[in-house]
This record gives sequence, C-alpha cells and structure tokens, in this order.
Amino acid sequence: MKRIGVLTGGGDCPGLNAAIRAVFQKANSVGYKVHGIRKGWKGLLEKDIFELDRNAVSGILPKGGTILGTSRTNPFKTPETAEIAKKNFDDLGFDALVAIGGEDTLGAAAKLSQEGKPVIGVPKTIDADLWGTDATIGFDTAVNIATEAIDRLHSTAESHDRIMVVEIMGRHAGWLTLRSGIAGGADIVLIPEVPVKISDVIRMIERRHQRGRNFSIIAVSEGAKIDFEEAREAKEVLKSGELDEFGHVALGGIGNALAAKLKAATGFDARMTALGHVQRGGTPTAYDRTLATYLGVHAVELIEKGQSARMSAYVDGKYTDIPLVDVLGKLRLVPEWEYQVAQVFFG
Ligand code: F6P
Repeated sequence: MKRIGVLTGGGDCPGLNAAIRAVFQKANSVGYKVHGIRKGWKGLLEKDIFELDRNAVSGILPKGGTILGTSRTNPFKTPETAEIAKKNFDDLGFDALVAIGGEDTLGAAAKLSQEGKPVIGVPKTIDADLWGTDATIGFDTAVNIATEAIDRLHSTAESHDRIMVVEIMGRHAGWLTLRSGIAGGADIVLIPEVPVKISDVIRMIERRHQRGRNFSIIAVSEGAKIDFEEAREAKEVLKSGELDEFGHVALGGIGNALAAKLKAATGFDARMTALGHVQRGGTPTAYDRTLATYLGVHAVELIEKGQSARMSAYVDGKYTDIPLVDVLGKLRLVPEWEYQVAQVFFG
C-alpha cells in the first residue's frame, strides 16, 4: 500500500482544508495511506506526522486555516536541514509527498524532487503570484473579502468627505489589490508592478475633488512602490528589517505613510485601514472550495501515475499539471493591459 504525506506551508488561506480533504479522499479511494505533516516543512524536519482518516477530514471543507498547521520553515535553509529533510522522507516511508503552498513552499518542493524524492505541488496563495497556474487556492475568497471591505469603507468616505486608504496584501504582485479595487470601485489602485510618484497620486486626488467629488478610496498593495521623496526611487515600506527563512522582509505601513502624506499635501481628511489577516481568514468561497478539490484530486492522480516533480495547475480553463521546477524563481505579475483597465476609473 502506498504511503503519502501531505503538508501545508507558508501563510494560511481559505481553501487549504478543502485541498487536504481532497487529497485524503482521492488517496483513500485508491487504497493509499495518508499522513498529515504538521506545520509545513517544520513537521518533516521534526518527523511530526499523524495518520489522516475520515474523521480527521470530516467537516473541514468550509473551514478556514489548515488542520495541519503551517509555518514558513525552509528545509533548504542549510545543507544540514536539507539532509534531515531527505533522510526523514525516507525514514517515514513516504512513497510521495503532496506540498500545498506558494512560491516558497513549492520552491522547496521542487528542490526536494530534484533530490530524487517524489513530490507533487498544489498551488495556494492569496497573492496569486505563483508562476504556471492561472488560479491559486485562497485568492478568490481574499478578493471577495477585500471587495466587501472597500464597499464598507465607502460609507465613511462619503459621509465624512474623506480619503480612505485601504492597505491590501500582495508582496510582489498586485492581483488582490487590482481585482478588489476594480470590483469595489476604488478611485486609485497602487500595485508593486507599477511604481508611482506621490505627486502623481496627489494630482489625481486634487483633480477628482475639483470635479466635485468629496471623497476618495485608494486601494494600495502592501508591496506597492511609491516614491515619497521624489528621489527617483520608489521603494516598498517595511514593517521591520527582519527576514523570514526564505529571505523575505516583513512589509507593512505603506497605507499609513500614504494617508499622512495625502492629508498634509491636499488638506483633505485621510484615514487608513489595513485589512491584514482578515483578508485570508474564514470560510472559503465556493470557487476556492472547488478549485482546491480539483487540484487536490489531480495531485493524487499524478501520484497514481507514478509522476513526480509536477504541480497540479489550472491553465487556460483546464486542470492540468506543469513541471514543479518551472515555478522556481519566477512570478506571475499583473499585465499592463489589466492595470490600464483599472486606470480608466482613476480620479
Ligand atoms: O502569503 C502571502 C502573504 O499573504 C503576503 O501577501 C504577505 O506579505 C504575507 O503573506 C504576510 O503573512 P504573515 O503576516 O503571516 O507573515
């Protein structure tokens, strides 16, 4: 009987449990044993696993978060940890492993598969910046949460004649800000792919107010690059200098900086709301549940066929799979044409 492991890595998001359930049910239906690995790659390094059964996955489909827990542990942080990961894979007797995660988790999965361990990836991230798939688990739910937040912020914006800045997650890519900004009718959308000067933002706000509008909503990605000093360099705003195990800095604070600058420059009252982890919490949408189910089932189908080093993916309207190594070092970014659609509604 084949024995497979399943883990979730990186930030939690809605739909992870639906994917875990799908992996278990499909694997169980073909007679495999499935072990949950706790806290992402950390659980592999610590041999922290437990056997999944029908009870463990019962009722988890609509639940947010992940029953397996997650972490940002990098198994390839040092040569020693890489050796432990490979050894534990063998010691635990896994025939294959399903890694559900974003660029970091799947990057590690790709490396592990290059070391000869059978690994299949399942794409999740609310940032939707993973290369090689048109859809990632969690994004649709996050877009809906952020859109609702923008709708609700309109109330205060209109009632108090205010500029409302809403800071939305998105480290390298602005998909979440762009799509929720378009859906929520934001007046300006600022994303990492399109650096801007603060003077241009001020001009757009002033023009809008001259046209008789008394309020504005600005959707800004946490990773957006705004040149506040007109110093010909637009940079992200960092929360702290700390790096995680994959070398990422903690972002945050751009919303506050932007609201303060706009208030000072235009004289209009301005406030900031950071959606934070609200945007990736709670129950997944029907779309995310379905996506997670198809991607999870397909991951096990790949194992059944003896495949490895593949990522279950959704491309051009079809469920398929791509080489896991293709996701390494690449990002799926917002194309210019799509940003231009948002720009039609600016100001
Ligand atoms: O997983 C991606 C993400 O949602 C990014 O947009 C964000 O920078 C990061 O997670 C923040 O996560 P945490 O606060 O859990 O480290």
